[in-house]
Amino acid sequence: MALTVQEARARLDRLPRAALGFFPTPLGRLDRLSDELGISLYIKRDDCSGVNLFGGNKVRKLEYLLGQALRDGATHAITYGATQSNHAMETAWACRRLGIQPILYLTAVVPPRPEELRANLLLDRILGAEIHIVSIEPGEIEADAEARSFEMGAARAAELSAAGSRCADIPMGGASPLGSVGFAAAMVELRAQADALGLRFARIYHSTGTGGTMAGLHAGRAMLGMDDTQIISVAASPKDEAAYLDKVCALTRSALELIGSDAAPDRDAMRVRLDQWQPGYEQPSAAGSAAIRLLARTEGLFVDPVYTGKALAGLLADVGRGDIRPGESVLFWHTGGATALFAEPEILGNVT
Ligand SMILES: Cc1ncc(COP(=O)(O)O)c(C=O)c1O
Repeated sequence: MALTVQEARARLDRLPRAALGFFPTPLGRLDRLSDELGISLYIKRDDCSGVNLFGGNKVRKLEYLLGQALRDGATHAITYGATQSNHAMETAWACRRLGIQPILYLTAVVPPRPEELRANLLLDRILGAEIHIVSIEPGEIEADAEARSFEMGAARAAELSAAGSRCADIPMGGASPLGSVGFAAAMVELRAQADALGLRFARIYHSTGTGGTMAGLHAGRAMLGMDDTQIISVAASPKDEAAYLDKVCALTRSALELIGSDAAPDRDAMRVRLDQWQPGYEQPSAAGSAAIRLLARTEGLFVDPVYTGKALAGLLADVGRGDIRPGESVLFWHTGGATALFAEPEILGNVT
């Protein structure tokens, strides 16, 4: 049976949670862009979720992940990502807020220039995180270097534990069942806001990477019985579609179990769009750059080249094809990441 907003909140409140962000994040209509596109477009501002300028979707996940870590008495937290990872930077500042020592294993997908630190890596350094840069060696692909970083992180955790510290393992992207609970809670938040405005969203567009956000949105959709809302997840990196949906479905199921909902994930309703990530992760696309300019020039808002610009480009492609019916309310879930506008030029591309 579908839960009401109040029932869902009561279940979520039973889980440990560290207060880190500004919630609810604003929900608003993009009047000028709606007029330009001939649709009714709203935005959910998770780019405003942080206690500092650098919020984003990870804050919701970290509230639960670090809430549990604090309950477990963690002194340190280890996480993983690319050198310009939003997740790693958000984990670092969240740890500092909570008095936990942040340790980052960062794969050099785009090699940083040590003499000219930029964007998230610069913030990681200012935050004083313990940083380990893992290069992609000749003959390796990104996944090989990532696998090595997980081994190095596990060895560091064992070392800390032998010395009497307690180390929380925060998965890459915060993509665990508990992390996804944060986005199930986000769906409850959205439902309450939409109810207050008398709105029903036919479509929600968002950027997907590790899949934790997508799983949480689907968990929220399932437990609230929002069958008339389609979630369109625009991939920021290449994926094997079937394996990815299996992974997201399993994460969704586990998140629902943690919440104590008997709803089942609806795999048939899961859509991952694979037409925008090209030419690659952290490699800009012309459509993404055009989306960055369009949102800035109609609404004065910023999306980024790696995630949200490509997700917005997916929405714009659907508008261009006439897939969105007049009168449908559409939501763009802004998941943050605008620090990438200040990253290495090969990540940024041509946005002016
Ligand atoms: C700005 C931004 N949007 C979207 C995503 C994708 O979220 P997820 O990893 O939960 O799929 C990320 C992940 O790092 C991100 O940084």
